Amino acid sequence: MEQNKKIHNILASLDKNLEIGDYNSVIFQCGMILEIIFKQIIRESLTSLPYEQRKKIMEFESVIGKGNKGFEEFTFGQICGLLRESNLLSKWAKYLNKDLGVLQSINLSTFVNLRNEVSHTNSDVIVDEYSAKLFHSYLVNWLAFLGIQDIQKNIKISFEKNTINKDSDSVEDKTLRVNMDVHSAYDSSLLTEEERLEVQSKSTLDFDLKILKEIFDNIGKSKINILDFGCASGKVSYDRFANISFVNKVIGIDVNSNAIKKAKTKFECEKMRYYELDILKSQGLEQLKEIMKSENIEQFDLIYCSFVLHHLENPKRALSLFRSLLKSNGAIFIKAADDQTKITYPDDNELAFKIIGIQSNMPTSSDRYFSRKMYSNLLKTGYKNIKMFYDVQDTINKTYEQKREMFIDDFSYRRNYVKQALDLDPNNKDLERKLEEIDNFQKELANLFGDYDFYYTNTISVAIGFK
Ligand SMILES: C[S@@+](CC[C@H](N)C(=O)[O-])C[C@H]1O[C@@H](n2cnc3c(N)ncnc32)[C@H](O)[C@@H]1O
Repeated sequence: MEQNKKIHNILASLDKNLEIGDYNSVIFQCGMILEIIFKQIIRESLTSLPYEQRKKIMEFESVIGKGNKGFEEFTFGQICGLLRESNLLSKWAKYLNKDLGVLQSINLSTFVNLRNEVSHTNSDVIVDEYSAKLFHSYLVNWLAFLGIQDIQKNIKISFEKNTINKDSDSVEDKTLRVNMDVHSAYDSSLLTEEERLEVQSKSTLDFDLKILKEIFDNIGKSKINILDFGCASGKVSYDRFANISFVNKVIGIDVNSNAIKKAKTKFECEKMRYYELDILKSQGLEQLKEIMKSENIEQFDLIYCSFVLHHLENPKRALSLFRSLLKSNGAIFIKAADDQTKITYPDDNELAFKIIGIQSNMPTSSDRYFSRKMYSNLLKTGYKNIKMFYDVQDTINKTYEQKREMFIDDFSYRRNYVKQALDLDPNNKDLERKLEEIDNFQKELANLFGDYDFYYTNTISVAIGFK
């Protein structure tokens, strides 16, 4: 488990280094992870391969280690040397009855040389982008092949002969999948809703900014006042608006008092203001008008609603109220999802479908199909020049962290709705069973997100309209 944690930590900073162009570190970090993977393969080979093959590997180990060092103490270069000299990857591939393609055929010497050069003290070698990306894509291929939940365990399983049906690739894939440690990617106690919202905020930032630019081009860029409706703990609007010079003030409101307390502690300043408030309650509108008065705001230029309206019993009423608070030509921004845009494959047990089904049937559920209703709702409440934007996300070419974030973003929280319903009706056996079911489905789905051939897509929609 420790090794897995180490790999995941390295992966997290590896992605950042790739992005900022620190290619020397990329080479170094790819080498660190590959070393862990290769050592595990050697370890398993030495206990599981037929005697003759094990003997060959041990002979090369002895030559490379000069008789006084075992492979566990080898450097990355020596490990790659052992793989090459003993033809270990071919042996393993044969044992798996699988073609390892590029994983097996690539010549590792170039990587080893590059890694040696950059890791020398006083080295002034600067790795180029092409080499770093090549090395990185080799690592990604390994991670895709092994699954990324628990690499060590997957390698171990691949040597357990009885669990692998050599006659059928598809059966073999399934065997590997059901044997993975399904607890590794999902832990509801670890990830709070606040953290999930931060992940979601990050994943929609670029999309939002593109649309906000279009809004600002329309409404002008002078001392803009914004209402962030359902601001939660403030991170979303802080990341979008705090550093825009022509934004005068952002008023964040939310019914959740804890969230508002956090927003105040973390982000409150002259420009970013937070209030606990539900404008749909009686007196809510009056209270908001009081706040606007105290903040010297007559009307808003923009009302920003990110993943909020689908929680309301009467979103159209909110839209009408908001329209009355906008300047002429002021804009509204609504972001929401629609569960029917979520597609998974292969998902033989229809896990995504079942999870969504259980959640959307809970009495505590929000409207899971809201984004399709935004256009009609805006039109009916008097908004003009309505436009829709779509952010289609998928798992293709995503790193482990990115896929994990997609799972967290879109599925990790759903069991909470069942839990809430059960808390309200603690003796309800049906809800108890549903909670257990959804927990199991979520764990299995988290596991599927790690499979190299798993595909998931989801569309986030934004609607904008003007007064
Ligand atoms: C899914 S969160 C979204 C938070 C944030 N806007 C974001 O994009 O991450 C929904 C938020 O809406 C708030 N909310 C729900 N109904 C509300 C209401 N009637 N008035 C104000 N806030 C509300 C909830 O308390 C919660 O913080």
